[in-house]
Amino acid sequence: MNGPLNVKGLFISFEGIDGAGKSTHIAPLAQCLRALGRSVVLTREPGGTPIAEQLRQLVLNEAMDAMTEALLVFAARRNHLQQVIAPALVRGEVVLCDRFSDATFAYQGAGRGFDWDILLTLERWVQTMEPNERLRERLLAPDLTLWFDLPAEIAAQRLTGARLPDKFESQPAAFFEHVAAGYARRMQADPQRFVRINANQSADCVWHDVGVALRARGVLP
Ligand code: TYD
Repeated sequence: MNGPLNVKGLFISFEGIDGAGKSTHIAPLAQCLRALGRSVVLTREPGGTPIAEQLRQLVLNEAMDAMTEALLVFAARRNHLQQVIAPALVRGEVVLCDRFSDATFAYQGAGRGFDWDILLTLERWVQTMEPNERLRERLLAPDLTLWFDLPAEIAAQRLTGARLPDKFESQPAAFFEHVAAGYARRMQADPQRFVRINANQSADCVWHDVGVALRARGVLP
């Protein structure tokens, strides 16, 4: 989390365009951390609570304008933060989250063209946890974000025939080029939080690079 810490937990998010392969690495990483004695919460966005999972179904399956999408994913995020993420961090646990706010900037902002500054306002608004004294006044954001970066064309090839695509997965490659540019913009704004992982290589090589990045950050020994 940003700012001086009085919370022992560690919050790591995983980002990338659809097909980048991030999800493959989250469960093995959870296993590694548990083997090291850490308590790990493995979760995802949109989702992670009953309410947020219902909102996920709407966002992924129903046609709506970009503002509606943005408001729904931030509503889901608020519930997820309050119910799951903030309590786990206060308990000193590791939270591994498959996507978080960067996805909103990348998909609703860069991808669908919703106003970036309004997203920044929503982020500040939603991710400040007033009811929890120990997290008060601080933007509750990941300590570390692994961005699995893959050219949109390659991601499109990987997704072809993989399974029935949801609303975003069925977008053309050009949409994902915008989304990737959104991730790059977020990384530029907060370079210390981000690690860019080259996802255009075998899963073994990607896993190796994840390990290197996490050792460099002291997350893994
Ligand atoms: P994804 O994380 O790829 O899960 P799965 O592997 O089950 O497909 O799917 C989530 C989708 O939701 C993805 O296409 C990105 C989109 N999304 C947004 O548009 N905005 C957001 O804020 C988040 C968190 C996700």
